[in-house]
Amino acid sequence: MKIIQIISLAVCMLFMSSFAWSQSANDWESGEHIFDKICQYCHTQGVGPVLTGRNLPPIYFTTIARSGLNAMPAFRPTELSPDDLEKVANYLSQSTSEANQ
Ligand code: HEC
Repeated sequence: MKIIQIISLAVCMLFMSSFAWSQSANDWESGEHIFDKICQYCHTQGVGPVLTGRNLPPIYFTTIARSGLNAMPAFRPTELSPDDLEKVANYLSQSTSEANQ
């Protein structure tokens, strides 16, 4: 194998592994980011009830997001890690209603 082929293969593998890493479940920046990417498309579009600005305790969000509720899907720990779930729950618990617009 020519050296240039080895180098391009190595670069390619490096690129693929960093891509896979950036897609990992632990790449969320904040609770707000998680909400925007996972919950928001149902919960600000009228599919599910408004969650922001309701002063609900974090445990309310973690419990329902883990177990589901009728049309609300349950999120498994492989989809949303305990840490990430806690982040989004704290964010929602402390959010104001403006965050919903
Ligand atoms: C596929 C759409 C969808 C997604 C995504 C979704 N939800 Fe829901 N959620 C619903 C629906 C629909 C309900 C209403 C269920 C019912 O009361 O029958 C609901 C209800 C809830 C409730 C109860 C609200 C209340 O007024 O009692 C909470 C808390 C909740 N969702 C949290 C979350 C969180 C946190 C996320 C993101 C991790 C999320 N949901 C993502 C559809 C969704």
